[in-house]
Formats: sequence, structure tokens, C-alpha cells
Amino acid sequence: MPSHWQLHGHGAPAYTNVAYPFPVDPPHVPSDNPTGEYRLRFRLPAGWDAERTVLRFEGVDSWCRVWLNGAELGHAGGSRLPVEFDATAVLAAPGEDNLLAVRVPQWSAGSYLEDQDMWWLSGIFREVRLLARPAGAIDDWFVHAGYDHRTGAGSLRVEAAVPARVTVPELGVDVAAGETARLPAVEPWSAESPRLYDGQLASAGERVALRIGFRAVAVADGLLTVNGRRVLLRGANRHEFHPDRGRAVDEATMLADVLLMKRHNLNAVRASHYPPHPRFLELCDEYGLYVVDECDLETHGFEPVGWRGNPADDPRWQDALVDRMRRMVERDKNRPSVILWSLGNESGVGRNLAAMAGWARRRDPSRPLHYEGDRSSPDVDVYSRMYPTHAEVDAIGRGQEPPLDDPALDARRRAMPLILCEYAHAMGNGPGGLWEYQELFERHPRCQGGFVWEWIDHGLRAHTADGREHFAYGGDFGEPLHDGNFVADGLLFPDRTPSPGLDELKKVVEPVRITADPAGGIRIANLHDFRDLSHLAFSWTLEAEGAEVAAGALEVPSVAPGEQATVPLPPLPPTEVESWLTVQALLATDHPWAPAGHEIAWGQLPITPAPGNPGAPEPHRVIPGPPNREGSPTAAQSAAVVHSPLTVGAGVFDPATGRLLRIGGIEVEGPRLDLWRAPTDNDHGLHGEEALEPLWRRVGLHRLQHRVDRVALEGDVLVARSRVAPAATDLGMATTYRWSAVPGGLRLEVRVVPEGDWPCPLPRLGLRMGVPAGLRRVEWFGRGPGEAYADTGRAARVGRFTASVEALQTPYLRPQENGNRRDVRWARIGDGPGTAIRLEGEPTFDLTVRPWTSEHLDQARHPTDLRPDDRVWVNLDHAQQGIGSASCGPGVLPTYRLDPVPATFAIRLLPHSA
Ligand code: GAL
Repeated sequence: MPSHWQLHGHGAPAYTNVAYPFPVDPPHVPSDNPTGEYRLRFRLPAGWDAERTVLRFEGVDSWCRVWLNGAELGHAGGSRLPVEFDATAVLAAPGEDNLLAVRVPQWSAGSYLEDQDMWWLSGIFREVRLLARPAGAIDDWFVHAGYDHRTGAGSLRVEAAVPARVTVPELGVDVAAGETARLPAVEPWSAESPRLYDGQLASAGERVALRIGFRAVAVADGLLTVNGRRVLLRGANRHEFHPDRGRAVDEATMLADVLLMKRHNLNAVRASHYPPHPRFLELCDEYGLYVVDECDLETHGFEPVGWRGNPADDPRWQDALVDRMRRMVERDKNRPSVILWSLGNESGVGRNLAAMAGWARRRDPSRPLHYEGDRSSPDVDVYSRMYPTHAEVDAIGRGQEPPLDDPALDARRRAMPLILCEYAHAMGNGPGGLWEYQELFERHPRCQGGFVWEWIDHGLRAHTADGREHFAYGGDFGEPLHDGNFVADGLLFPDRTPSPGLDELKKVVEPVRITADPAGGIRIANLHDFRDLSHLAFSWTLEAEGAEVAAGALEVPSVAPGEQATVPLPPLPPTEVESWLTVQALLATDHPWAPAGHEIAWGQLPITPAPGNPGAPEPHRVIPGPPNREGSPTAAQSAAVVHSPLTVGAGVFDPATGRLLRIGGIEVEGPRLDLWRAPTDNDHGLHGEEALEPLWRRVGLHRLQHRVDRVALEGDVLVARSRVAPAATDLGMATTYRWSAVPGGLRLEVRVVPEGDWPCPLPRLGLRMGVPAGLRRVEWFGRGPGEAYADTGRAARVGRFTASVEALQTPYLRPQENGNRRDVRWARIGDGPGTAIRLEGEPTFDLTVRPWTSEHLDQARHPTDLRPDDRVWVNLDHAQQGIGSASCGPGVLPTYRLDPVPATFAIRLLPHSA
């Protein structure tokens, strides 16, 4: 306690996204209703001095009935909202026993309002407190701390439930509650500079510490502004989640989230889809994150029944919905970080939403309202959308969205800023296309950014029978109805290791952009909303083929927010080989959320291009291999031994198939054409009309056959012609492999010509090769260190990197294509100093190295299903289909599609044996 009983062996977690796991018949719930009975004996400490004693629950899922010493105190629902009971009358005297009893059923009428996409987990999952309330206690207060960006003045008025005084020593404030203090100059609060002033509210009986942030939020002239400026929200949707404790999240975990967000350049968080633990909001105040605080309301499970009986529109539910809104606003109204109230998520449309909005506006006119579920936005102040395509965002940015039927509502909505409450679905590998969204946010003032879905994978820690750890998702607990790994769609793995998607997001939303100025020099654009660049230190490094040649500090003037400057290149020594200048923007001093030296942004400028592609292959005599030592083949022996192997330079080939068998004494398998990738979650999603994964399987890309048409020597070149095609279709790839000797190894040129009418883009176009399992160190010069695909590669920089084969794998909760390294100029796969194969692109290739095949990856349900093969599998790709975000949202943008067209690519293989 606090905890969920399902995570302590009572019942089991269950995951559904939209569907209610019980019949939809509101307000009834199943008779089989798992129920927790909590009992606690306690004594008040000596000296308990209270006029009233209040028993407060911060969160009970889904309902509670409470008794103290046999007397019923009451009951309450609203799982992620606080509730208080007056316990004064029934408490025993200090030193005597009290018995608290709480009954918590898993299902209640409130469950119909709590259909968020997450695990169903029950119990008292936040703290329970007993509060000694003195005479003259301040039970409620409301801090109004305004900021006038034109004058820099602040204003402070604190409403209190009883007479009280407000003091802020730093500002010399000492006024009565209810009175306004006008302050000629204050430092405003923003996510970039979260300035808080410490104050106190004191009544006759109680003192309350205040942390005051002066700021103004408005929707003005069609823009969402903070302190008078348009802000760009760089956000993520955060569910409360811990892989062992579910939604019973401790403070260290909350802080970890805040620090990770800040360190990855995020400035905003949507509390999806319920008010978070109150401490989380205090941390957002302190470290600086804008918050969309969302009411604990989602009725999505009514959608599959045509929204019949939706509580959002049934008057019988109005009080319950308004009560939830009221409890959120009252709990969180003093948090400067909260800039928008959200009515809830995916609850259809209806009059009860209007009632919630009306209540919130009356109580707190200072914050705009948000709700996405009603596209006509009648009750709110911002136009919110989830998962629109880039084209739709662009249209809205240009003010050219299709009109609403109601002209008044249409005009109203046209005057609203656009916030993407959800976009870029971070499920599995991806999301792709982040950069193109960011460009739209930066191009159109109306498009003010949004919140990637979502912050963390909700994978629950589990173990295989032999004790290996993995993270469970829907279906792993035997749920009859579940939505599989749709619960694993975060930027963090469940243990809070950042996924490649978070690195990508950090790069895409970086608040400083460093590029080559076409007119010469380094352009530094300041994309902060408020801060100039004086808090950053810039440094540069020159690398020749990834090896550092020179480095230094870069003088950058303090560019104002929204401005840019060009600084000259530092004096650089000459270099012969491909060289890049990397410029980094680092924190100049320690910040509460990261130490000095933390990287905020970087950019790379090409300095010396790669010397031209290697020339034409060197002529080399092709000689037949040694005679077959086994003697004459018998009928039982395979066809391969009938022929003597062929040798081309360092390579020994099977003359029947033209397949490379050995290179410089290293046994290999392949390389041969390969089109398959273990479909990603985004490949499973609907790309426009049809998901790619079923299409790829229907075509049969996972079971290609390699027909050998002709293997012949043409001069010094071994030419193998082949048709690579799946059964049961006339689609295929006419493939020609040309092997020739080059100094130190072999060159392979591949020509691919698609045949037939292909109905889909290809997963990949490249080669697959098996090398000995002992070759487990990879060094490469190309983009890294992380994985990258055509539409996810912004975070990967050009450099020289080293990794073990294990470290090159990204352990997505459901195994799928991962680990690609882009734009590789050369790579060396070896066992350390000894045996190795060097691969060289003409000029580059994409590289994936894994201890199992794509087919094994495809078949696994969890990473623990994967066991290393007796080979290391190397994919050398000419291109790969982009990633997109179609697991929930748009697919791959046209430029990142890999349509089947004729292609020629080449690679060099250079063996090295000890
Ligand atoms: C949205 C929803 C989220 C989540 C997401 C998909 O429609 O608001 O809660 O389900 O889709 O992961």
C-alpha cells in the first residue's frame, strides 16, 4: 500500500484499449466483482491537536466505502481524484486503538467513466492521510499570480476560506487574503525559466507554504500565449506507470520522468488521461513543464455501441462528470505549470461536457479549456486533434481546413490555435515523420505543437520459467479480451531506458538549430520562446573519418529568442578524408535538471567530402577451386559438391548457385537479395487504405524463393542471374549478382529489376549475409550511434562508432525490425583484433547486424523468445521502407516509401584473418 492488488498475486492485470471488459449496460457492473477489503489498526500520536480530523484518500481505483471504528464515514468514486471524510466524531482518543476499514470493488458505475487505454488495476494506489485540522484552518485557497508582459509587472491575490495574510518576503508583499498586491517588477514563470517565489498564507490557526509563479496564459488573436508570447509545445502524453507498481508511482519515479523530459528538450506534458499524483505537478512547477491537466474521464467503450447511452450526454451522469471536473480544478488550481484544463479524453460529445466546461470557466477563468473528442470544439478554447496527417496539419495551419456545418462554430474554431493532443504514435520502432510535423509547427503560427503518444511503454515486469526478465503486455495474463502490445507505445521502455524514438524527439524539438549557412559560416537559430542563448556554451569538433582532429570552443553571441545569427567557421586544419564539423550547444552552468555540459542541441557541417567512389573493379583472374578431396560424388551427395567451387580473388563460390561460401577463409552464407523485415507495429497499422504487413505476407515477401538461372564467368566477373520471387504470384525480382576481385577482397554489384505489378512498397531492398557467430564486434563509419531509418534518423550523426552485436539490438517489447544503422560508409565486423570482414559502400549502405534472422525476429512474441543463432546475420541494405506512424496515425510519407523500381547497388567485402 499504496498499490494494486493485481500486482500482488490477487487476480491479474488486464489490458484493453477501447473495449470495456464487461457488458455495456450502465450503470451496472458484473456480479463477479473482485473486491479488496483493507483494514488498518492505528493510534493517534500523543499530542494530536485537532479541531477536526480529516481522512484523505489521494486515489482509490475504482470506488471505496469507508468505516472507522465501525461507523461508516461514506463512500466515493473517481479513481484518480482525492476524497476527504470527516473522521472527528468517531476517532478514539490518542493512544487508543482505531480500526479503519475500506472496501474497494474493482468495478463501479465510475468504471464507465474510466475507460482509458491502460491496464485495469485496482486498489488504494495513492496515499491515505489523516490530517489534523486546527481551529482557523485554511481549508481552501486560490493563488492568482498574474504577469503583464508589457510592463513586467506582477499581481498577486490569494483567496482564502478564512481571514488570512499573504506574505512574500522576497517581494516585500504583506497583504490580507483577498487583497491584490501590485508588484512593479517580477520575474515571470515559464517552462524555460520556472521562477517560483516562496510565500506564506497564514490564518489564526494555520500557515500554508505557497510556491508562486507569476504568469499569464491566454488564447489571444488565435494563438495560445504564455506571458504574451506564442509558445511551441514540445510535449509527450504521460500516463503514470511503473513496471512493478503500475500506477502507484513513487516520487523518485515522478522526478525521473520530469528530469528525463527536461533533458530531452520537452517543455510540456499532457496528463493523459487523468489528474496525476499531485506531487508530479509540483515538480512540473519547480523544474518547468507546461501541463495539460486532464479530468479523469473517458467513455471510449461507448463508441463500439454507437455511443448509445454515452454518459457524456446522459443528464443522469451530469453531476458525476461535473464533480470530477470540480475535484480536479480544486486540487490543482494553484499550480502555475497547469496551463490548460482538459475535460477528459475520448468521451464523444454531449451536454455534460458543456456543463463541465461551464463550471471550470466560472471557477477559473484564467486557464483555457481543452477537449479533443468533439471536433466542432464548442466548449473549449483550443482546436485539438489527434493523429492528423501532415497534410491536415498543414491545411489547418494555412486556415484551409474544411468548414464545419455550423457557421458560428466554424468561425469560432478558425480563430483557435491548433494543439495536437496526440501525434506520432511511439509504438515499437518509430515514430517516423516527427521532423515533418515540427517543420509545420515552426512554419504556421497557428500550429503550436503537441504531445507525442506516449511517454512510456506500460510493460509489466515478468520472468520466463527459466528466470529471464521481459515486459508483459496485453494477453500475457490470459485476458479473454485484450489489445496486445498496443499498451507498449512509449518513448521510454518500461524500465525508463530511452528508446530511439526519444532520442529522435529530443533532436527534432531542440530549441537551438545549428546548420550551415549557405552564405558561409555556422547558423545558430534560437528557437526558445523566452530565453536567449547566454545559458549555453558552444563547442566544435572536427572529425576526419570519425576520428577527432581538432576541437575548440565557439563564440556565439547571445541570440534573442526567435532570432538567429551566423558565426564564422573556426580555423580548421586541412583534412584529406571525409570530415565533418560537429557543433554542440551545451548547458554552460548546472541547471536543476541537468549538469553543465549537458547537450541541448547539435549540428554537423560537411568540411571535406569523401574522396570519389572507389574506381572500377580491378581485373582479376577467375580460377576454378581445388578438386573435390572427397573423391567422386555419389548420387546421395548434394548437387553442390558435384561441382568444384569457383574462386574469384579472395572468394570461394558455389558454382551451382553462384553463392559466396568463403571469403579469405571466413565461412559465410550469402550474401543474397533480401526484401523482408520483421514487420514493425507501424507496418501492422493502416497506411492509408491497407496495412502493409498483411499485404506483404499475402504477396509472400517472407517466403521468397531464389531460383538460379545462370552462373557464369563473363571475363573476370562471376555473374549469377537469379529470379527472386514468392510462390503463388507472378511478382518477382530479376536479380543479377556480379562478383569481381578488388585489392584485398571482392566487389559485389547487384542489379534488381522488379517484374509484375507490385501492389505494395518493399520492406527492404538489400542483401542478407551470414557470418561466423564469433564476429560480434562492429565498428562503423556512418550515422550513429543509435538506430535510424529513412524517416527517423535525425538523431543519428555522422561518426565512427563501435558496438557489440547485442548492443546493436533495440529490445522493443514485441520483437520487430530494429537496429538499422544508416549511411554507413564502411563497417568492420570482427572478433576483436583477429578475424574480420570489412564492408565498404559505394558510397554508403544501411547496416543491421543481429544474432538471429528477420524470420526469427518476426516469430518472437517477447525478446526472451529470441536465442542467438550459430551465425551472425548481416543486412546490407540499399534502402528500407520508412517507418511512419500508422500503428495509430498516418503511414510513411511519400518520400520515404520504397517502391519497387529497378536499382543497382554495390558493396565491397574485404576479409581479414588473424
Ligand atoms: C488515442 C487515445 C489514447 C491511446 C492512443 C493510441 O486515441 O486517446 O489513449 O489509446 O489513441 O495508443
